Amino acid sequence: MSGDREIQTISFTRGVPPPEAFPTGQIQECAIAILEREGSVVLQYHPAAGLLPLREWLAQRYGVAPEAVLVSNGSLQIEEFLTRLLTSPGDVVLVESPSYDRAITIFRRAGARVVGVPLEPDGFDVGTLESLTKKQKPKFFYIIPDFQNPTGVTTSLAKRERLVDLAERYDFWVLEDNPYRELRYAGEELPTVFSLGSEKVLHLSSFSKVLSPGIRVGYLIAPEPLVQQLARMAEDTYVSPNMIGQGIVYEYCRRGWLGPNIDRLRDIYQPRLEGLSSALEEYLAEAQWTRPEGGFFIGVYLAPPVNMSALRAKARDMGVLLSDGKGFFPEGDGDLFLRLPFCALSVDEIEEGIARLGSLVNSMDIHVSRGR
Ligand SMILES: Cc1ncc(COP(=O)(O)O)c(C=O)c1O
Repeated sequence: MSGDREIQTISFTRGVPPPEAFPTGQIQECAIAILEREGSVVLQYHPAAGLLPLREWLAQRYGVAPEAVLVSNGSLQIEEFLTRLLTSPGDVVLVESPSYDRAITIFRRAGARVVGVPLEPDGFDVGTLESLTKKQKPKFFYIIPDFQNPTGVTTSLAKRERLVDLAERYDFWVLEDNPYRELRYAGEELPTVFSLGSEKVLHLSSFSKVLSPGIRVGYLIAPEPLVQQLARMAEDTYVSPNMIGQGIVYEYCRRGWLGPNIDRLRDIYQPRLEGLSSALEEYLAEAQWTRPEGGFFIGVYLAPPVNMSALRAKARDMGVLLSDGKGFFPEGDGDLFLRLPFCALSVDEIEEGIARLGSLVNSMDIHVSRGR
């Protein structure tokens, strides 16, 4: 046996919930109950717009008709359908820069030209959005207004209102993707862009971050004709969505368990956000970041002259895994950007990981001037 102490690997790569986030026993109970009560429904093919009682439950929450709700196998799947429906190859889609890398991939795969609108500490840059909408005639603007992936930034109310004005005036869709909204650990809730009352806003969300991603249930609130078109597309793709997942989610919500589960998650995640904020202040004092009020991520811009690929390689040797920031930037910049997910790490792991990172960033050998 060697006497070496094994270095614990700390991964800042994936924004996933930790195992302790899952209310496994409750989900088990809901699975048994829904199979006993509605087995013949949830084990059968089903109309592709989703399980009606779940659509009705969501409709009531959003103050819309059940026909305005589509429930599918995760919200990313709906993003894929929406992109195919709303865009043709060559069309312009606007995103915040940086934005969620998988969404950018989906838009590109459909042939869209993805153009970034710089993100400021209170949301997208309004002037750039306005000039781009005039010049480029985008099909939609994809925005994550609450605790954005990858930066944690929340869009101010003034910018939400301005966005709705611009969408009406220049006739483009707003695709509001809001899966982190209910994971608020500080500050005051702002209205969703959808709730500001424009037919141009499509609201996308998911049970992935408030219940379980493996259950694969996400949803869209949109005008009814659009929901019908998307449901046809869904039917032609997978015939029927995952009904057992939808049945379990419905039973969970019907029992009134979702709200208390979200409170429990906030209690788990809030100290982790605090831990990451304090560690950044202590060990990466030169870095720039916006303090999030919720969600899963802090987006950090390191001060030059850090060589990021050297930093990632050396960090890996020290047991700290980092993702490449470039994927979040549609124009490929983001050389100095790090997305730091904090929910799946303990406060001790966060502090240790950022301390290791800080010692590297402050050492000369990952600086650009020294090369690789
Ligand atoms: C902004 C955003 N949208 C969508 C998703 C994916 O959600 P789902 O699991 O519902 O497909 C994620 C997951 O990380 C996300 O961060």
